[in-house]
Amino acid sequence: MSEIAFVNGTWSALSEAVVSIQDRGFQFGDGVYEVIRTYGKAVFGLREHLSRLQASAAEIDILMPASLPSLDAAIRLGCEKCGFSDIQIYIQLTRGSAPRNHVYPDSSQTTWVMTFRETKKIPQEMREAGVSIVSTEDIRWAKCHVKSLNLLPNVLAKEAAARAGAFEAIFVREGKAMEGAASNLFAVFNRRIVTPPKGPYILSGITREVVLSLGPSLDFEMCEAPLLFKDLCVADEIFLTSTTIEVLSVVRFNGTPVGQGQPGKTTQALHKAFQSYVQER
Ligand SMILES: Cc1ncc(COP(=O)(O)O)c(C=O)c1O
Repeated sequence: MSEIAFVNGTWSALSEAVVSIQDRGFQFGDGVYEVIRTYGKAVFGLREHLSRLQASAAEIDILMPASLPSLDAAIRLGCEKCGFSDIQIYIQLTRGSAPRNHVYPDSSQTTWVMTFRETKKIPQEMREAGVSIVSTEDIRWAKCHVKSLNLLPNVLAKEAAARAGAFEAIFVREGKAMEGAASNLFAVFNRRIVTPPKGPYILSGITREVVLSLGPSLDFEMCEAPLLFKDLCVADEIFLTSTTIEVLSVVRFNGTPVGQGQPGKTTQALHKAFQSYVQER
């Protein structure tokens, strides 16, 4: 078992993989990416991740380096080659390598990078205790639905959260809570569960979609609607979703306990349902 990388068709050990310093991903953050994981041998939500990658690339005029079936096959081959059972896969596509100029180069070939590592799971104690979050002004651009390599606002927000002893930062735009720096946001009000709607100000998470589809079978009313910051402050429960954290309870928001200050029953039920969903696929 080993950490491996793929750069434009060449496989190597992760530590040996390189791209040019002229690559526009390095020069401008001019690219898009996906984070995918496996559970055992099964790649979770691969079709959905690849179609989001394709949509992100199309939004910023980056050509796909291969067909979706070829990408799919390369990912599965990488999983076999690295040999871990739970694998975290990164795919990064950039506008290629060219002399530095903001304007797109006349000709360039999309750089296609993939890495395969063992998944870093959330520690069980953290899951059982729940996490803290803090709010921060949303200083991102108006295409947050594109999973862009340009993550500077997210980096700054996560760092500020870490310095405040919190796990995640929540972006707030014009009085509305949007999402975390690397996760989607849900708030529970009795049996009603609210998450901000899809649009240019959030990344439409693959995990978010699954959670929205699971709620009704547990008798929860799932609601994609604006989530006011002031309402988030009085939610019964708050939770975050992403490929890496799945469904994670928030127990403190800006230093104040959420609900009883412990992981709530609704969040726990949804995480259990999420885990069953993963196992059944
Ligand atoms: C800004 C942002 N929102 C939401 C998510 C969750 O998306 P997914 O569930 O597809 O991992 C991520 C994941 O990285 C993210 O970076």
